[in-house]
Amino acid sequence: MEMKTTFILFFAIFILASCHQKQATQLNKHDEKIDSLIAVMTIYEKVGQLNVINFGGNLINPQGEEIDIDAAIQEGLIGGLQNIRGVDLLTKLQKLAVEKSRLGIPLMFPADIIHGTEVIFPIPLAFASSWDLKGIEEISKISAKEATALGINLTYSPMADIARDPRWGRVMEGAGEDTYLTSAITSAVVKGYQGNDLSDPSTFGACVKHFAAYGAVEAGRDYNIVDMSWRRLRDVYLPSYKAAFDAGCASTMVSFNDINGVPSSSNTYLLRDILRNEWGFEGFVIGDYTSVGELVNHGVAKDLKHAGELAINAGLDIDMASMAILKHVPELIEEGKVMMETLDAAVKNVLRVKYALGIMDNPYLYLDKKREKEEVFKPEYLQAARSMAQKSMVLLKNKNQLLPLNKNIKKLALIGPFVDDNNTPMGGWAFGGSHYESIVSLLDGIKNKVSDNTKIIYAKGCDANNEEADQIPQAVQAAKSANIVVVALGEPLDMIGEARSRTSLNIPGKQMELLKALHKTGKPIVVLLFSGRPLLLDWIDENIPSIVQVWHLGHESGNAIADVVFGDYNPSGKLTMSFPHSVGQIPIYYNSFRTGRPYQENYRWSTHYMDSPNTPLYAFGYGLSYTKFEYSNIELSDSVLNKKGKIKAIIKVKNTGEYDGTEIVQLYIQDLVGSITRPVKELKGFELVELKKGEEKEVRFTIDIEDLKFYNNELDFIAEPGGFKVFIGTSSDNVKEAKFALD
Ligand code: GLC
Repeated sequence: MEMKTTFILFFAIFILASCHQKQATQLNKHDEKIDSLIAVMTIYEKVGQLNVINFGGNLINPQGEEIDIDAAIQEGLIGGLQNIRGVDLLTKLQKLAVEKSRLGIPLMFPADIIHGTEVIFPIPLAFASSWDLKGIEEISKISAKEATALGINLTYSPMADIARDPRWGRVMEGAGEDTYLTSAITSAVVKGYQGNDLSDPSTFGACVKHFAAYGAVEAGRDYNIVDMSWRRLRDVYLPSYKAAFDAGCASTMVSFNDINGVPSSSNTYLLRDILRNEWGFEGFVIGDYTSVGELVNHGVAKDLKHAGELAINAGLDIDMASMAILKHVPELIEEGKVMMETLDAAVKNVLRVKYALGIMDNPYLYLDKKREKEEVFKPEYLQAARSMAQKSMVLLKNKNQLLPLNKNIKKLALIGPFVDDNNTPMGGWAFGGSHYESIVSLLDGIKNKVSDNTKIIYAKGCDANNEEADQIPQAVQAAKSANIVVVALGEPLDMIGEARSRTSLNIPGKQMELLKALHKTGKPIVVLLFSGRPLLLDWIDENIPSIVQVWHLGHESGNAIADVVFGDYNPSGKLTMSFPHSVGQIPIYYNSFRTGRPYQENYRWSTHYMDSPNTPLYAFGYGLSYTKFEYSNIELSDSVLNKKGKIKAIIKVKNTGEYDGTEIVQLYIQDLVGSITRPVKELKGFELVELKKGEEKEVRFTIDIEDLKFYNNELDFIAEPGGFKVFIGTSSDNVKEAKFALD
């Protein structure tokens, strides 16, 4: 090979390597300093860095003495204290670590900042329904600004768990059923949290969770097992975590569940083979709350000591709250069951993040009284919350254009348990912000919106979830005296989130009884659904003219709902989880796999139920607008895609209705023949298109070979030559289609 070619080849290899290095150097650029520090750490100081606990209570030091948190910090036995806030308190604790402990290694202060800190944004399943990546990055940036102003320097978020079973209460914390969309949203959240410089005091570390596949717990039962092929895990469940790491995510939290019999907390294949060796991750892995100690409950560890041994050897670095590593790793090292190199590697991963956060160089970087005073609960943050809440709502039905309502309406009845309620809209995991009094209830939002001539008649009708005392007769009277009735139904907070799995997705208590009584009055009814998951809406869909899924929207809930109900914002949200007709259909998701007997209407010998439709009530990607959007046919720049090439898929979208609006144009692809069964379609692109009344725009998508790849049974990530279909449309079940081939 001539010199010139050789040089070019070496230069190309150097560039490629440095590119890979560049992506990784954010976390490994202080390794030399870290190695020098580890070299002088005692074994107790090392296991101390792997110990993160809640603030409060005492702990047993390695000498078996019961000591309090302050003493433990001074002995270097705590690496971080979680879910506390406030510059004064955290400065006091940090001073103990920095000035009183032997090596002065600063504490990390992680917290569950899931959808806002003081200003609470819509729950993740709601903001995911906006499909607005820029908006999601923006609210994540605001969450970071507020949290860091309160001294928090890492968040246990984003949750990237793909979820296809709404019986699982934690679907509210994620972005729904689709891999491509969850990956894009996860990446946007990480970028919003971490910015371009993790040591900037207004950004903080992200911790993508729950690694891995927590959303696939069997039967939607929280903490249950997960059992599926690694092929399916790699194709459907793992990419969204990888998207976080590709965005530079500093840490990850393992999931409570096992995967094919091996709990994530001790899953070497997951934590070392995939996460470290394949993906090159260099941050830290933290257990979920006592998940290390729970290895005993899983029945894979004999006792807490054995649990600590399994976890650290499998590649888990920080033990959250079970203190298995703190208590037992020193003796496990003595016994040769854990190598010192393993312990040092875990400590290095933690210190890499502490250096990247900037606290090793300035432990008080996030402890700034001025920022705490000025950067929290700012009016522009509330405006951002209102804007995201507007975009998160999904218009499910609007027969005869009952919505939007007129602000001069004479008599408006507001009925239901979520009308005069400024607590439920906060949603789960609201981190207990101290501004609950500022949450805008539906009642307040409507009052802020309507004219002085409007008479609002409020009646609660019933509680959210009890079968006893109800005021349905009074509510019916209120409805009879009004021109229009708005009914706020759904799930109370104690029915969603962690450890809130349900076998029924019915709207609880007497709420449906209330709605049916109101329906009998014959008055036009608008139903607003306050929930953290898909609920069963068949009766409502059949009998109620206008339905809006409003989720739990955070601080500006009432104002944003009023903006949509009275037309100051034309709803644009699209569902990211299928809404089933019944629990019997679950799991149900749009990108289902093909079968040998595909569904055929009225044909018995096809994939179907005798007693239910084969499709959901509302599909993934579904959401209406007050206006109408018309799609042209798809135009392809070429009918054949070669391996290095790209194809343009072009479609025209026209706003043919009476309102300006935003349409989320979705692109799906189907692999017509594969070496294994392939989904009927998969989301591979989307565009938010703003169209004024009468306006038409051309939307252009680029398809390349990366869009066609999947994991085959040999776990090769490949695209196979052959025929494909491309679908573009307004919902996964309402698309135009065209064909192309990969040669
Ligand atoms: C919880 C959750 C996890 C959370 C952690 C710390 O049990 O599973 O999502 O981050 O504990 O609060």
